[in-house]
Amino acid sequence: MVGLEQYKKQLELCDAQLVSLLEQRLQITENMTEYKKSEGNSILQPEREKQVRKLVKEQLNETKFKDEMFDIYHGIIENSKKIQAKTLFQDNIYMIGFMGCGKSTISNYLNKMLALDVIDMDHYLTKKEGMSVNQIFEKYGEQYWRNLETNLIISMKDYQNKVISCGGGVPMREINVKEMKKNGKVVLLTADPETILARVKHDDSRPLLRGKKNTKDIKELMDIRRPKYEAAADIVINTDDRSIHEIAEEIIYQLTHFNDSMMKD
Ligand code: S3P
Repeated sequence: MVGLEQYKKQLELCDAQLVSLLEQRLQITENMTEYKKSEGNSILQPEREKQVRKLVKEQLNETKFKDEMFDIYHGIIENSKKIQAKTLFQDNIYMIGFMGCGKSTISNYLNKMLALDVIDMDHYLTKKEGMSVNQIFEKYGEQYWRNLETNLIISMKDYQNKVISCGGGVPMREINVKEMKKNGKVVLLTADPETILARVKHDDSRPLLRGKKNTKDIKELMDIRRPKYEAAADIVINTDDRSIHEIAEEIIYQLTHFNDSMMKD
């Protein structure tokens, strides 16, 4: 009969094999990402991801502990994505741009594809204050909101490898931009006033767009903000008529080749 000591030994052996296999798997992920990066291949490949998941699912369905195995496999995939992201860039990614330019949508997509943590500033601050942006503006005024934003930016100084989806007004304060530049790259998303209007017209959560949901007013505010947005941006990406996937791919491409293009300039 197998005694307790022998079971313990078997487990130790298994763990050693697992550690070695997992290390191999994660190393392959890193190598593959380096390869894609150097060859300029597309990084996010949702179709390929689906295919791999399907294949593994078929294998896992055959196993005795399939629920637990799925759970473990999910953890492996999430961590592979994290390695992929770390191999591509260490900096934080600050998404800036006019209301409705797609900062939250793109940030969430990057979270899904690269398992990057996202801090949505509007969401974080409204949750912390227990009030909507409209309520905060009404009760305490705009400056109070702007101070909340600045304090939050400063508090994130030790963050790494995160996506920060900024409120549209964040780049208007110089101190915010200075802080963002210390630990991240700033990605400006742009869109025509017509595109913005189409995206925000049924949403009343933005106090600055109250009574201004028309292209003329949107364009006016955009023109005022553009110089600050552009001065803050390391990378500018237009989002008109492009899919979320295309936009995310371009962001990743530009971020991973950022240093190369700086050297050429
Ligand atoms: C603002 C943009 C909003 C929010 C607030 C003020 C702005 O965020 O922070 O309503 O000044 O542009 P989104 O850009 O995420 O809508």
